[in-house]
Amino acid sequence: MRLSWTAFVFSACLLSTRGSHAPRAGMLLHEERDDIPVDFVNRGPATPDTMLDMRVALKMADRDGLETALLDVSTPSSPHYGRHLTSEEVRAFASPSPETTDAVSDWLASEGITFKVDGADADWITFSIPVSKANELLGASYENFVHSPTDVVQVRTMAYSLPEAISGHVDAVYPTTSITAPRDPSLGPMFEAYTSAPNVTADAVPASCNNVITPACLQALYGIPATPATQSSNKLGVTGFIEQYAQKADLRDFLSLLRRDINPNTGFALQSIDGGVNEALAGIEANLDIEYTVGLATAVPVTFISVGALNADGVQGFMDFAEVLAAERNPPQVVTTSYGFDSERGLGRTLSTRLCNSYMKLGARGVSVLFASGDGGVGGGQPKQNCPRFEGAFPATCPFITAVGGTHNIPETAVALSSGGFSNFFGTPAYQKNATAAYVARIGSMYQGMYNASGRGFPDVAAIGDKVEIVNAGDAGLVAGTSASSPIFASVIALINDRLIAARKPVLGFLNPWIYANPQAFNDITSGSNPGSCLNIGGFQATAGWDPATGQGTPNFSKMLAAAGL
Ligand SMILES: *[C@@H]1O[C@H](CO)[C@@H](O)[C@H](O)[C@H]1NC(C)=O
Ligand SMILES: *[C@@H]1O[C@H](CO)[C@@H](O)[C@H](O)[C@H]1NC(C)=O
Ligand SMILES: *[C@@H]1O[C@H](CO)[C@@H](O)[C@H](O)[C@H]1NC(C)=O
Ligand SMILES: *[C@@H]1O[C@H](CO)[C@@H](O)[C@H](O)[C@H]1NC(C)=O
Repeated sequence: MRLSWTAFVFSACLLSTRGSHAPRAGMLLHEERDDIPVDFVNRGPATPDTMLDMRVALKMADRDGLETALLDVSTPSSPHYGRHLTSEEVRAFASPSPETTDAVSDWLASEGITFKVDGADADWITFSIPVSKANELLGASYENFVHSPTDVVQVRTMAYSLPEAISGHVDAVYPTTSITAPRDPSLGPMFEAYTSAPNVTADAVPASCNNVITPACLQALYGIPATPATQSSNKLGVTGFIEQYAQKADLRDFLSLLRRDINPNTGFALQSIDGGVNEALAGIEANLDIEYTVGLATAVPVTFISVGALNADGVQGFMDFAEVLAAERNPPQVVTTSYGFDSERGLGRTLSTRLCNSYMKLGARGVSVLFASGDGGVGGGQPKQNCPRFEGAFPATCPFITAVGGTHNIPETAVALSSGGFSNFFGTPAYQKNATAAYVARIGSMYQGMYNASGRGFPDVAAIGDKVEIVNAGDAGLVAGTSASSPIFASVIALINDRLIAARKPVLGFLNPWIYANPQAFNDITSGSNPGSCLNIGGFQATAGWDPATGQGTPNFSKMLAAAGL
């Protein structure tokens, strides 16, 4: 996961550079940032004729209606539980109203700008303009922000405004205030350990699982069945980004070594989004994700969803994949992603809110959307020595996804790297209010002022995220990170969905209301904490009940089946 976190990211440690930004007369400030990520330097005004490919995200016609519909079909006590929406039903909420499209179109036309309406729900407007025009159009001040480690320049503004009549029709404009590190596959993953594993076989017993985690360990630990799933309509999607490719040869070696009971030639399908491919180039992250889905969700059809570089969503394809899947007739019922952004603050409020709304669409379709919570403990996604404050990683802080934190050792304890905490952008959703309030009450004045008790708490659940054996480029090795936790948890959900489909029941869909209504279905993790490398701060302690290190806990398959009504 670190490749991704490094590649997308910003550091949690931010330098204060600016004060507030007053908008011009007739315009409303849409977003501003008061600091820039620590790895960036401001090199002054951008050249006026530099061209910018702009995107305007139009407001959904009925965003709140979509949220209500999502919760209505995802809350176990609701009479409509499991009645997931069709893509047409989602579109009726999500497509912008004609007034919105007209207002923004008329504004751009009056500014002499040629534009195109884009996106599955016709909710984006795209156009190219020079910096000089963008400064005028958005009351902005575009500057060159240089990412010091790579010298990559991002042309961004510390603030932007929209005409009063337009502001209410727009979610976000990109590129504006989000400053994120460039993708750089050469940075390479920084796994905690990648040493040759001891000789471990499929008949490893749990005693060895303190040193090396294999599928057999997880089956024993969580009660995950080894018997094959039976439903061909059940699908588990595994996303891949930043030129990370899953290797069939490595998967074959992995299955031969650690799942001797199944066909070593068990493969996976490939779906390409934004020109994504799957080259013969081993990637630790992609191999981990594929090996712990194909190798754990026995006989569940797995699709590797490769998201390529041809994305223009402003967020490395993170929005495109959600939008594409949400518009499909039969999207995968579970999607796991082990990539993310270190800090919701780096991404900014408007863009992360917009992205989160895209995941809401997927949930409404009945898709369980899982993300690794991040590997930087309370400091966000990235290791750092001296953290001035807690940071929430994204998309983990989005209330419409399920964030999976990490554990290690037997019996399990929170692993230090497991990102968790509270959002500053998203309020506490109703489904977790009791759980987060109980935790906040329990820790009393500890960390007061360093976290936002009224924010969305994450992660929601956890699974093993340390000393996980994989095969990569022909070698066995151990990896660490919530990158492992998310595919493991996703495999459990896919196996439960297999049984639900066989019983002609709806799949679990958006998981969180079900998770918080069924805390008894999880192994509550009550020790360990998640300082990450922010040792100057310390981390949130895992305790009885929900905690921002391990959420509600790790899977107990039979109890989860019972909670699913099976
Ligand atoms: C692992 O297995 C190989 C081949 O069977 C053997 O030569 C080697 O000594 C074993 N290593 C350990 C640490 O047991
Ligand atoms: C799951 O919970 C049941 C009921 O408490 C327990 O008997 C079982 O041992 C648990 N399974 C695992 C794998 O811990
Ligand atoms: C705390 O979270 C709430 C709810 O999301 C938000 O409105 C508020 O701005 C946050 N506070 C800070 C200091 O960021
Ligand atoms: C939260 O707690 C209150 C009071 O105990 C209870 O009435 C309510 O149902 C709980 N809500 C959830 C979502 O569990």
